[in-house]
Amino acid sequence: MTEHKPIVLQTRSLTADVEARLLKEFEVLRCSDKNRPQQGELQALAARAEAICPTVVDRIDEALLQAGQRLRIIANFGVGYDNIDVAKARELGIMVTNTPDVLTESTADLAMTLLLMVARRAGEGERLCRSGRWTGWEPTQLLGRDVSGKTLGLVGFGRIAQAVASRAYHGFGMRILLHTRSRVDPDVLERYGARQCSELNELLTASDFVSLHCPSTAETRHLIDSDALRQMGPSTALINTARGNIVDEAALAIALKNGTLGAAGLDVYEREPSVHAGLFDLENVVLLPHLGSATEETRSAMGHRMVDNLVEFFAGRPPRDRVT
Ligand code: DGY
Repeated sequence: MTEHKPIVLQTRSLTADVEARLLKEFEVLRCSDKNRPQQGELQALAARAEAICPTVVDRIDEALLQAGQRLRIIANFGVGYDNIDVAKARELGIMVTNTPDVLTESTADLAMTLLLMVARRAGEGERLCRSGRWTGWEPTQLLGRDVSGKTLGLVGFGRIAQAVASRAYHGFGMRILLHTRSRVDPDVLERYGARQCSELNELLTASDFVSLHCPSTAETRHLIDSDALRQMGPSTALINTARGNIVDEAALAIALKNGTLGAAGLDVYEREPSVHAGLFDLENVVLLPHLGSATEETRSAMGHRMVDNLVEFFAGRPPRDRVT
């Protein structure tokens, strides 16, 4: 008699080692386009699956959850899970897990990459070299700003924000401010020489760089709106590696164009993969295509963490990263 393997719907291509492990442990269903699954096909396959392992850009909405009559677990490939209707999953008794910890360092690295690129005008410099119009070194060419001694304001203070604080404070000699709802332990503040601002406004007006690290929720949608951008002002740069909809992207494009905000470094967008057209012509913005966790090591570690959660669940043990 052949052993029953749980049926898992894999929405997109993953690293080879993770795909091999999924195939070993489970019966795997895949969409015909392994990189751009259509919602209709996902829904049809969900009806046959006991588990789905979506990525952060696959929409696991009410219709899909209702279609998945046999679904028992959604094991998200990613730490953010705003792609999933968690309330509906809970109501239907479907467990949700995510992949925290393993992407902390690479995402913090990317936030620092954006911060440095923005401060040193690296995007502009790269475009100049590629254009063939660079005429040589000049004492006043493409002058950026030092980061050492500057103030970095962190909005949210979870794992990734703390990893950014560590890099910025210990590696670059920056002053750290943070704003988060809960009170941060004084020992943790001391680790990063950080000060907690009780009001967001205080952080926005006092920072040279503001980096976003809060989750995407109804409360954080457009947290950085035109008013917040005005408070940051012309000498401040905004860095976003969290979620696009925390920032009002149209207001951001206007603020960058008018110079009421100094600069921005973005890895995430309100309506990915679409990027607000007003940003394309601006020199004072660096645009990356959601690369936060995109290293071989991290994407593999995320996949294994996701498979671990599935294996534990189907073995009848509590998965490590249960969200609901
Ligand atoms: C996540 O896991 O939430 C990231 O956005 C993926 O890079």
